[in-house]
Amino acid sequence: MAEKITDGRSRIISGKALDEDARIDASVRPKRMEDFIGQSRVKENLKIAVDAARNRGEALDHVLLYGPPGLGKTTLAQILANEMGSAIKITSGPLLEKKGDVTAVLTSLDPRDFFFLDEIHRLQPSLEEILYPAMEDFRVDLIIGQGPGARVHPYQLNQFTLIGATTRAGLIMAPLRSRFGIVHRLEFYSPEDVLQIVQRSAKILGITMDEQGAAEIARRSRGTPRVANRLLRRVRDFAEVRAKGQINVTVARDALAMLGVDEHGLDEVDRNLLLTIIQKYSGGPVGLNTIAASLSEEEDAIEEIYEPYLMQLGLLDRTQRGRVATALAYKHFGMDEPRRQPGLFS
Ligand SMILES: Nc1ncnc2c1ncn2[C@@H]1O[C@H](COP(=O)(O)OP(=O)(O)OP(=O)(O)O)[C@@H](O)[C@H]1O
Ligand SMILES: [Mg+2]
Repeated sequence: MAEKITDGRSRIISGKALDEDARIDASVRPKRMEDFIGQSRVKENLKIAVDAARNRGEALDHVLLYGPPGLGKTTLAQILANEMGSAIKITSGPLLEKKGDVTAVLTSLDPRDFFFLDEIHRLQPSLEEILYPAMEDFRVDLIIGQGPGARVHPYQLNQFTLIGATTRAGLIMAPLRSRFGIVHRLEFYSPEDVLQIVQRSAKILGITMDEQGAAEIARRSRGTPRVANRLLRRVRDFAEVRAKGQINVTVARDALAMLGVDEHGLDEVDRNLLLTIIQKYSGGPVGLNTIAASLSEEEDAIEEIYEPYLMQLGLLDRTQRGRVATALAYKHFGMDEPRRQPGLFS
């Protein structure tokens, strides 16, 4: 699983997974479609595509999954391979450096195998071009020899499925995007779906927890399964030390307060982001690079991890001239919104 920021600080929302976390992640990660909670429209569509491909004995069409981190792109890719009874080779855009890296994976695929390419928006353009004929005609051009004597040798690949995943669909150029037959955006999960995910994980991990406790964790998980599983583990730690391992609503609230996660699931970085815009830049508009510098955060992390959820909650707007804290954001902090100059948002 690709973590976006690796600054070594302990973070609830964006932090790098610890070894222990990675082990638990693997145990709670759904393996079959029926265990994958929520995203019903995406699931229905994928089920039909899988059934049809299986009946025809063909590879599944190429799939592009996009949406904010932690919503289940990697999980779904693995489920699709399981459902098709296929092997899956997993790599990531930035890890592929040379043409040979890409052709080596492509030529190693057996019929109907899956090639999962995470962070596909970070693939170099020259390598992306190799994918075009590979996706369309299952063909790659191998270069045999070196220098003036080098020859191009067309090579027929087995039928395979490329699954691309990205948090930044906007950065994928039309020629690549148009070669995916199946394109789905994953949305933030409803509190009911996250509740089910928390309860399922708790059951697998043998955690004792009542429904209100689970609901409290679910509500503060920003509609994101990865965050839900992470908060569950931290609340469990707290419960083991302070409450004989029993999680109820009070224990959950106390634990989450200690973690700095508020009732909307906002953490310190979210709050600093909004307060920076409000207090230093009179509510905005202010540029992403300025915010990133003020917070000592990476622009990518702000754009991919923090902003999507703040916008979903209606606390932040992205305008052409920069980021703006909404009236709701002022209300969230119990502040009065200043009267803005007319024409500022023209
Ligand atoms: N629908 C779901 N039902 C239950 N658990 C889920 C679901 N979706 C994701 N999870 C859990 O959330 C964790 C994160 O999911 P996953 O790694 O697939 O996210 P991702 O979209 O690939 O994130 P990234 O963009 O960071 O790579 C997984 O370990 C899995 O256990
Ligand atoms: Mg992933």
